[in-house]
Amino acid sequence: MAGPLIAIDGPAGAGKTTVARAVARELGAALLDTGAIYRSLAWLARERGVDWGDEPALATLAESLRIEFVPAPASEPDSPQRVLVRAPESADVTAVIRTPEVSEGASRVSSLPAVRGALLGIQRAIAAKAVEAGGCVAEGRDMGTVVFPNTPHKFFLTASSGARADRRYRELVAKGVAETSVGEVEAQMRVRDQRDSSRDSAPLRQADDATLVDSSEMGVEQVVTHILAAVRASP
Ligand code: C5P
Repeated sequence: MAGPLIAIDGPAGAGKTTVARAVARELGAALLDTGAIYRSLAWLARERGVDWGDEPALATLAESLRIEFVPAPASEPDSPQRVLVRAPESADVTAVIRTPEVSEGASRVSSLPAVRGALLGIQRAIAAKAVEAGGCVAEGRDMGTVVFPNTPHKFFLTASSGARADRRYRELVAKGVAETSVGEVEAQMRVRDQRDSSRDSAPLRQADDATLVDSSEMGVEQVVTHILAAVRASP
């Protein structure tokens, strides 16, 4: 049975992935982590020796990107889904795409219009399939504005820069990839936020019809409850 398509946008560290995962679980919907798609492209480019500034080569690579999300088993509901890239043999990139280096690459490749255009189809195809199967929670920077402008369920999740840097730092420590400090994470985040918000192609912004949720002072559960109530109340 077809389900809803829920768009969640916002800056890095606002808690989008955690919130989106919990909302998806509650609704029996799939999670579409579009940041993981840009991250996978940056990773693949590095593997292939393609420069993160080479727009035509990156667009070609993006057209050929084959990516698969494998949900965590029901017994591990809080584990992240696995991300597999066929390059052409299947590679599990779940951990490697979260390093600070690939984060920087994802931020750079995602600012290129030809790359964004080339990845539109893959995002819409994954979402369409998931909606048919019961629903999709899509999270990123331009879900509500560009990729799924017609969905009635749009949320813009934000938090203060201090709260966001703190969360991102703790995530990195938990993943064992933190040879860094909160201050460094905040500085890197500021550079990426600036790039996301100021780029010409699909800049990070709240869609006019999106609901703003500031999670600085809210726990994940509160945010999830708020979003679920809004989705269930809407026609
Ligand atoms: O959300 P996440 O931090 O994993 O995203 C990685 C990078 O991909 C971000 O720095 C952002 O620039 C970019 N991105 C984007 N549009 C999306 C999702 C992510 O530009 N829809």
